[in-house]
Amino acid sequence: DRAAVLAGRRVAVSAGGTREPIDPVRFIGNRSSGRQGAAIALAAAERGADVILVAANVEAAVLAEVRAHPAVRIVPVGTAVELRHEMEEASVGSDVIVMTAAVADFRPATVEELKIRKAELGGAAPVIELVENPDILAGLVAQRTAGQLVVGFAAETADDEDRLLELGREKQRRKGVDLLAVNPVGWTSGFESDRNSIRVLDHEGAVVLREEASKAELAASLIELFAQRLGR
Ligand code: C5P
Repeated sequence: DRAAVLAGRRVAVSAGGTREPIDPVRFIGNRSSGRQGAAIALAAAERGADVILVAANVEAAVLAEVRAHPAVRIVPVGTAVELRHEMEEASVGSDVIVMTAAVADFRPATVEELKIRKAELGGAAPVIELVENPDILAGLVAQRTAGQLVVGFAAETADDEDRLLELGREKQRRKGVDLLAVNPVGWTSGFESDRNSIRVLDHEGAVVLREEASKAELAASLIELFAQRLGR
């Protein structure tokens, strides 16, 4: 039986990956499926929380189960700028903020109104100028209210565990999050998979959770951890 460890709590979760338009038919995107974020939203709702799930380009099938839960509201978004707006709104009054979404660090400086056509480029390869996107997590940390728990995710490619934790600790400090879930990724694990492997670092860089399991099991462990931290 699932204890309602988050009863009366509000949780805001972002999931998926942003898409930054180049022209009406093309975008710069990433491989994040939104599965881990959807699993966290569902686990939080099942433990009594009211949940807002800001979903960036997440396939309908990935959202089917979480959509069916009455305590979850799903807000679909496309770009990083849209995601920031919705997460800033959702974070007001939230006890826990979880940023699992993969946010594009850069977006095209201008979006072509008409489709870029190869035949009209005169044989030259197009050059796409990029501008930096806001760091949404940093903004949420800066606006954090008393008692609010802010959680980041970091997908990292590292040759070994020491390097993975080193990258994670550096990122935890730089982002100022209460908890950072680090997961090693490659072309064969992490993103589209139903399983995941994470290490969670606290604000002092200590590993407070290390688990390799299904994304649903990891979500359950994360919720326990959030509830513990909120209780302090
Ligand atoms: O630095 P990196 O992109 O790996 O940081 C990952 C964490 O920061 C994730 O929690 C992600 O959602 C968040 N992020 C963000 N805004 C960005 C880039 C990343 O909120 N522009």
